[in-house]
Amino acid sequence: MNNVRHFLTLTDLSSDELRKVIHRAIELKTIQHRGELYEPLKNKVLAMIFDKSSTRTRVSFETGMAQFGGHAIFLSPRDTQLGRGEPIEDSARVLSSMTDCLMVRTFAHKNIERLAEYSSVPVINGLTDDVHPCQLLADMQTYFEQRGDIKGKTVTWVGDGNNMCHSYMHAAKLLDFNLVIACPEGFEPQQQFIDETSDNIEITHDVKAACTNSDLIVTDVWASMGQEEEQKIREQAFSSFQVTSDLMKVANDDALFMHCLPAHRGEEVSADVIDGNQSVVWAEAENRLHAQKALLEFLLVS
Ligand code: CP
Ligand code: NVA
Repeated sequence: MNNVRHFLTLTDLSSDELRKVIHRAIELKTIQHRGELYEPLKNKVLAMIFDKSSTRTRVSFETGMAQFGGHAIFLSPRDTQLGRGEPIEDSARVLSSMTDCLMVRTFAHKNIERLAEYSSVPVINGLTDDVHPCQLLADMQTYFEQRGDIKGKTVTWVGDGNNMCHSYMHAAKLLDFNLVIACPEGFEPQQQFIDETSDNIEITHDVKAACTNSDLIVTDVWASMGQEEEQKIREQAFSSFQVTSDLMKVANDDALFMHCLPAHRGEEVSADVIDGNQSVVWAEAENRLHAQKALLEFLLVS
């Protein structure tokens, strides 16, 4: 429909643009922490459609828009005509005629692609079944802040080959790090993402070998939103894929631990790891705010 710039997957940014957004997020954090007013989106409005629950994504975008001098509208299917079957194409045309940007968290990735096709303003992916690119902006910001550029480092993904894993695969390709994915058989990432990122990834079922000499260990829930009825089967399949202090010991001494949250202590990660001194999950969560602001500025101001 138009040449508007969207952010549906991390690969909608080039490597240079991704590095630029990460460094800008670090600067915006400093500006925010100094208490300086910076309002580049005065009178701009972000419409946020949430088909799934959210704490961090909603609060980071809503707060980010407020701090930038703009406004955000929270839309849930319970209260909008989208929830009563109004076509995505019609909703996209209408919402984008009144607002400056759309943020969407939904199930099927093709739905956000359809929305973007009919939107006259940028569309941001706040998580789909396939990818979670906004989280990667914050995770990469956190790594850069703590350890410098991630190029050439080894990152280990432990657990499900899910939306977060797919976005880590994209990050590995764009930022040129090695991603070792340790998952149970049958829970590998989708083939399309393997094909896209094959030079930068390795898939194994040996979790200890995968964590050995790693610089960053990352995990996520065993059952994602929409998979709640698979919880019991997944608990069995993933039982030997918990990130424990024994696993952290085989990683490099200065290895970090990340988790996008919400976390289940005693399932995908032990309490002593997520609450331990290698864990950077609180900085990672706060960085959602700064990273989202950098993304909004990139899409709407530059
Ligand atoms: N990590 C993340 O996206 O959190 P929310 O589901 O709370 O938005
Ligand atoms: N993989 C998780 C991430 C939540 C932020 C999910 O999709 O539910």
